[in-house]
Amino acid sequence: MTYAQITGWGSCLPPARLTNQDITSVMETSEEWIVERTGIKTRRISHVKNADLAHVASVRALACADISALDIDVIAFATTTPDEVVPNTASMLQGAIGATNAACFDLNAACTGFLYAFNMISEMIRGGSVQTVLVVGSERLSSLMNWSRRDSAILFGDGAGAVVVQASDQESGFFQGKLGCIENTRELLAIPDFGLDAIAEHRPLDITIDFHGREIFKNAVTGMAKACTDVISQSGLSLDDIDLIIPHQANARIIEALIKRLGADMEKVVVTLDRYANTSTSSIPIALCEALEQGRVKPGMTILMAAFGAGLTWGATLIKWGDRITPLASTDIDLPPTDKTGLELIMEAIAVRANVADKFR
Ligand code: UT7
Repeated sequence: MTYAQITGWGSCLPPARLTNQDITSVMETSEEWIVERTGIKTRRISHVKNADLAHVASVRALACADISALDIDVIAFATTTPDEVVPNTASMLQGAIGATNAACFDLNAACTGFLYAFNMISEMIRGGSVQTVLVVGSERLSSLMNWSRRDSAILFGDGAGAVVVQASDQESGFFQGKLGCIENTRELLAIPDFGLDAIAEHRPLDITIDFHGREIFKNAVTGMAKACTDVISQSGLSLDDIDLIIPHQANARIIEALIKRLGADMEKVVVTLDRYANTSTSSIPIALCEALEQGRVKPGMTILMAAFGAGLTWGATLIKWGDRITPLASTDIDLPPTDKTGLELIMEAIAVRANVADKFR
């Protein structure tokens, strides 16, 4: 029997911070409202491209697994904010790390993208068609935000996470997953002017998220809870067997409602959104890396991961961690430095956006 085991992990969080207080200078909101309604205190804003964030996270994951980029059979790149659509971002990453032997694909399932990619490639590894896969979740949502929309712009941050998944004969790694998409909920979270329809219909370029927070909230809690209970029961386990829960980091109240609905213990939950906000598809691999760095992952632990996102997509995954909880090697790779603050970076993004909108008018 072949298992799909996580053997390397790495993340990349850009250094510039954007606090709630900073945001009050660009829109009508308050620190209190944001903390109370979301649990978010600050987020990171990238001064580099999405693929650059992914590059650093990936090199860290490869060092952690102590493998060469040449060993990678597939790069699965989950993102909703590709630097360019054609060719895909996975092939850009392939060039950056020298993964000459890898097949490359991007995957868009919004915030559930990492789980979709991880579940799919784990099944490929278990089926024997590939041996070593790099799964990346990477987002630069700050450049997509409409900073005049307080319902959505306060929620997101930039960052990347990557894992190396390898075939193993040790009984560990991915062992149950469930993915889905709730029909007729597409309009709850959408960027309608970000695609060919907008061009075909001669609409002005206005990349703004249509966002129905309350409805998404309800669907997120019910969708993730159902996915979690399904994967737990399908694997013959009970909630007591789950040692650690890594939910998608969208809103502290969503996480608390999910945990309450499951009847689980908040002490088992990994939370990073207070510092990094919602990094969409990157949030689970970033939280996994942090849990490992903080010693919260122990050998043999059963870990439950759950996510939801635009679509509305949903997913849950169970993994059994292997023996190793420390990296095999390290790297000193990092992003190029910046002396810009998060606020300066978003002021630049606002100016670029106004300029682009003018050109398309
Ligand atoms: O990962 C997938 C993407 N993430 C999500 O989809 C997040 C899901 N939804 C949520 O996290 C929450 O619904 C939000 C945080 C977005 C909103 O929280 P809420 O408790 O559902 O608030 P609400 O949308 O019902 O708005 C309540 C009030 C409204 O004012 P009125 O109509 O009651 O007078 C909003 O206009 O809060 C107002 N409001 C704000 N006030 C200050 C909305 N955004 C803000 C803001 N600052 N940033």
